[in-house]
Amino acid sequence: MVRDTLKINLNRKLHSLKFLIIAFLLFLLFTNSTEKKPETFAVATRHHIASDIGMGVLRAGGNAVDAAVAVAFALSVVNPSAGNLGGGGFMLIHLAEREETIALDYRERAPKKSSQDMFLNAEGNVIKGLSLNSTLSAGIPGTVAGLFYAIENFGSFEVESLIKPSIKLAREGFVLSNFQSKNINKYKKKFLSNKDAKKIFTRSEGFKENDLLIQEDLANTLERILINGKKEFYSGITSKRIINFYKKNGGIFSQEDFQEYKVKKLRPICGAYRIYKVCSMPPPSSGGIALIQMLNVLENFDISKLEHNSLEYLNILISTMDYAFFDRAKYLGDPEFFEVPQNMLTSKKYALEIFKNIKAKKPAPKANIKFTESEETTHFSIIDKWGNVVSNTYTLNTAYGSGIVPTGTGILMNNEMDDFSLKPGYPNAYGLVGSEANKIEPKKTPLSSMSPIIVFQNNKPLLISGSPGGSTIITTVLQEIINVLDFGMNLEESSKQSRIHYQNLPDIVFHEDLKFEIIEILSKRKKLAKRKLGETHSILLFDKNIEAVSDNRRPDGKASTILQQ
Ligand code: GLY
Repeated sequence: MVRDTLKINLNRKLHSLKFLIIAFLLFLLFTNSTEKKPETFAVATRHHIASDIGMGVLRAGGNAVDAAVAVAFALSVVNPSAGNLGGGGFMLIHLAEREETIALDYRERAPKKSSQDMFLNAEGNVIKGLSLNSTLSAGIPGTVAGLFYAIENFGSFEVESLIKPSIKLAREGFVLSNFQSKNINKYKKKFLSNKDAKKIFTRSEGFKENDLLIQEDLANTLERILINGKKEFYSGITSKRIINFYKKNGGIFSQEDFQEYKVKKLRPICGAYRIYKVCSMPPPSSGGIALIQMLNVLENFDISKLEHNSLEYLNILISTMDYAFFDRAKYLGDPEFFEVPQNMLTSKKYALEIFKNIKAKKPAPKANIKFTESEETTHFSIIDKWGNVVSNTYTLNTAYGSGIVPTGTGILMNNEMDDFSLKPGYPNAYGLVGSEANKIEPKKTPLSSMSPIIVFQNNKPLLISGSPGGSTIITTVLQEIINVLDFGMNLEESSKQSRIHYQNLPDIVFHEDLKFEIIEILSKRKKLAKRKLGETHSILLFDKNIEAVSDNRRPDGKASTILQQ
């Protein structure tokens, strides 16, 4: 009897234990599924085909770096004005699990035989066009090395699968949009002096919308890169074709220049702005320092209380930009060749001094120079389902770079040497002046304005953005940050706002479409000029939601998001 009672009790206990275990497992399952992060990912680029390729990689389980590499190769085919193999750029990578952000500098380097006065005549004057359209205008390209560095260190897919779609696009051609056909025709003159560029990028009757752009040589080059890896570009047939072409045509490239090319892994430059952390590119970009400096100054104003694009707001913005661009010209260059006072320029103390000057209506000093207009470069933003981020800006410098395609490569070469200061005080294609800090030296990297950004809130990515537009990149990105963080706009709203650009020299405020009353008052104090500024390609993460926008200042871009709760 006692035994039976014990048995029953034991059975009951086992039964309730079993119940407890099942309840516990169900609890675990339930809490896991409710706490499971939504599968969220997004891509925003300058061209819809490249965006679709990037989204395809993310859907197939690739990470943000895999998608970025596929997008960059695709843009080299479908966005020939700025997407490239013959140029360079900057990639910010945020690795979610390691909570680490990395900056890759894969920008062009000056050839070993370059010299400070290589673009000057015997009288010491700059020879017009030499730094933009000649075989002396290119730096050693870094894009192929940069993309391989990214995939080898942070990717998860084989690089072959990421290049393949671009080979097909180059070989079979892609359909030109109305904008693209007109844009290629606009630069016809640039292509006419180079045999291969003329063959690929000109038609006697001009390109029309829906024409196919086939790039057979580029397809073959991409195929050799797929087979031989990055060495194809730095010591293989491709490098030999580029070097031989340049040697034959008055250039100074050598095999060592290519073989010695190195990607630089840098610490991004980050600053605190109100409750946020803003990270961007350190020197040799001027973007990161200028952005942090301007945000530090703006932090002293109660921006959110001001009316957007009101006179008071614009005056603050213009004065802040004034100081940042004065410092850019004076202090910024390749930090391996010139000691950039980064800590001073990005300190809150220095910003407070500028703030006081602005309050006292004291502008930054100036010199008198002229301004030539030009803009190109391209940015893309990507986030994967794990929260890894790529914010990448790369370029050939001006549209289609130098317009030079070395024989049999299909590669448009950059004209990035123009981003050096050719002579103190002499403006480059973006009207930017420089000094000792950015003079030409062998193996040096020209100063850039490219500013890919990632903004964090509570250590999680909040805003990913960037833009083309030379010097206007910095001010465009600044206004995207302020619109979102201070004025509480979403990306769509932000993209519709008229932006301004001011860079100390020339003393002109460029604006897109300010209100008549504002123009009337502002023009009494400053010279104003209307000008279209660069488009942003941004991703915003908020309240478990996601927004991606390729703003329609230029057509053909595409931003896609997936949000699976
Ligand atoms: N070539 C334009 C820039 O790097 O800023």
